Amino acid sequence: MTNALEHIAIIMDGNGRWALKRGLPRTAGHQKGGETLITICKAARRMGIKYMTVYAFSTENWKRPPAEVSFLMKLFEVYLDKYTKQLVEDGIRVIFIGNRDMLDSSLVQKMNELEQKTSMNNETTLQVCLNYGSRDEIIHAVQKAATLIKNGDILPQNIDEKTFSDMLYTKGIPDPDILIRTSGEKRLSNFLLWQLAYTEFFFTDTLWPDFTPEELAQIIETYQTRERRYGKV
Ligand code: FPP
Repeated sequence: MTNALEHIAIIMDGNGRWALKRGLPRTAGHQKGGETLITICKAARRMGIKYMTVYAFSTENWKRPPAEVSFLMKLFEVYLDKYTKQLVEDGIRVIFIGNRDMLDSSLVQKMNELEQKTSMNNETTLQVCLNYGSRDEIIHAVQKAATLIKNGDILPQNIDEKTFSDMLYTKGIPDPDILIRTSGEKRLSNFLLWQLAYTEFFFTDTLWPDFTPEELAQIIETYQTRERRYGKV
């Protein structure tokens, strides 16, 4: 019996090191990383993966040098412009999670447009975490729960794992079966802390821009041989 697999989450790490190794500016690594994301997304769709969640920008990433932050913000806009048509045609639904308040209105507009244009796609959902932090998400959910209790809409004892999950940004998306972090780092970095409770973790030394569909297939193969103690079935 093989393990059920519908959702893969990825921490796309190592863009900067990929560029430095080639004597290029870090931004070149982010650019190549964006292309890798498109390649992996298409491969995931071919492999029949229903959901992919990627960490594109964390709440901590604002601490990077201002020039790198503004390059990344611009790059997101460029990628949204460049790939919207293809994503629509490829049957990929894109949704963004994270706090949009701090993002440029031009970027937010493109994010909304992409979500709207791909909303009818149902082959694969790409969930992009942009200005996302898991603790921020959990605090947001606690505030929601507190407000519901205060207004008499729910009793404290009726808040269970399901109702709480539905208060998170990821409402309606099943928890990831696989987490991949590239570049040799072995940290969660405030990514999906609640949702990864029973997920199988895979760490690879490959830098994100070098990550390939073949390596993804290998990880999936290994996952199929693991015994999931607390998995879904
Ligand atoms: C981590 O590498 C990567 C990021 C913080 C950015 C991820 C962004 C992309 C892959 C660009 C495209 C994304 C979209 C949604 C179009 P790092 O800079 O931390 O690398 P390092 O650890 O080697 O310095």
